[in-house]
Amino acid sequence: MSLRIALLETRDEGLAGGDDRDAIAVRAAEGAALALERACRANGWSTVRVEARADAPDATLAELARAEVDVVFQLVESLRGEARFEAAAAWLLEWARIPYTGSGPVAITLALEKPIARAVLQSRGVPIPEGFVLEHAEAAIPISLAGRRWIVKPAREDASHGIDAGSVVDDESSLRARAQHVLRTFRQPALVEEYVDGREFNVALLGSGPTAEVLPLGEIDYSRLDPSHPAVLTYAAKWDEASVEYHATPSIGARPMARELEERIRATARAAYAALGLAGYGRVDLRVSARGEPFVIDVNPNPDLSPDAGFQKAAARAGLDHAHTVRRIVDDALRRAGALA
Ligand SMILES: Nc1ncnc2c1ncn2[C@@H]1O[C@H](COP(=O)(O)OP(=O)(O)O)[C@@H](O)[C@H]1O
Ligand SMILES: [Mg+2]
Repeated sequence: MSLRIALLETRDEGLAGGDDRDAIAVRAAEGAALALERACRANGWSTVRVEARADAPDATLAELARAEVDVVFQLVESLRGEARFEAAAAWLLEWARIPYTGSGPVAITLALEKPIARAVLQSRGVPIPEGFVLEHAEAAIPISLAGRRWIVKPAREDASHGIDAGSVVDDESSLRARAQHVLRTFRQPALVEEYVDGREFNVALLGSGPTAEVLPLGEIDYSRLDPSHPAVLTYAAKWDEASVEYHATPSIGARPMARELEERIRATARAAYAALGLAGYGRVDLRVSARGEPFVIDVNPNPDLSPDAGFQKAAARAGLDHAHTVRRIVDDALRRAGALA
């Protein structure tokens, strides 16, 4: 079938909060869009790139209508520097009844509000680390901190914004200092979670509903990281090619593990994907405790689809090249819109 695909993108320069370095992640989206265009063409489809205009949703819809597209590749990550507007783009496409790739607006909203995602996951029995939210650095702490490590993260960012070696803390005063930093820099509450000190897995899922396919597991290789540095995927590790961490924390195919553990990780990832209602494609990040229990630490709707990013690496391990992955995602969008059997 020859399709016409619109790549719907943001042209934001940075985050509303955060610092200059946080803009690198935003620029990486440009490379992903170019690769997706190539993949669409390899499938014999035509493409048009459309800017999601923060000031003019009506003009954005009019442009999509003029282009007579069959499917929108939904690549909006933020509007006016605010990630929560990604859901607005999905709602707009729902409203206009235009088939689009990836997760719907509710899943996007839930996943971005980590404390709400945690509540939903917990209500479905999906294991998450113990944790709490601080709205103010001096607020009361509802559980005992003693004898455990904690990680302090912004309650609603992704792409490791706000994560560095200082995010991991052992005592109340450093925890409160870090929460203060998150509150000030990102202008949002701080989520404090028990630090799960063990292997970190990325589980990519392709498809929607009960037939979603769990792709071969990926793992973050922390073995080359200086032991004085906590084993966390920092912002620099994810985006700053000049940093030591970038090269010391590669994402690799999961190393061998007991079959039972692998099955548990896959089932937990699938349960998290379903609980938040992700669709099309997504990635669930988990860490395994010293006692061998997997905990979900992050659920990502619409993860980076660049050929060198984790999602495509997992797809390649299942034998899918980039064009094939993109075809599966577009087919899924058409099927959900009722345009494909
Ligand atoms: N509870 C946790 N225990 C251990 N490490 C964690 C925990 N939460 C986050 N991390 C580390 O921090 C990184 C980024 O956190 P994550 O919640 O995935 O944020 P983001 O949405 O920015 O990707 C993770 O990849 C992991 O290395
Ligand atoms: Mg993550």
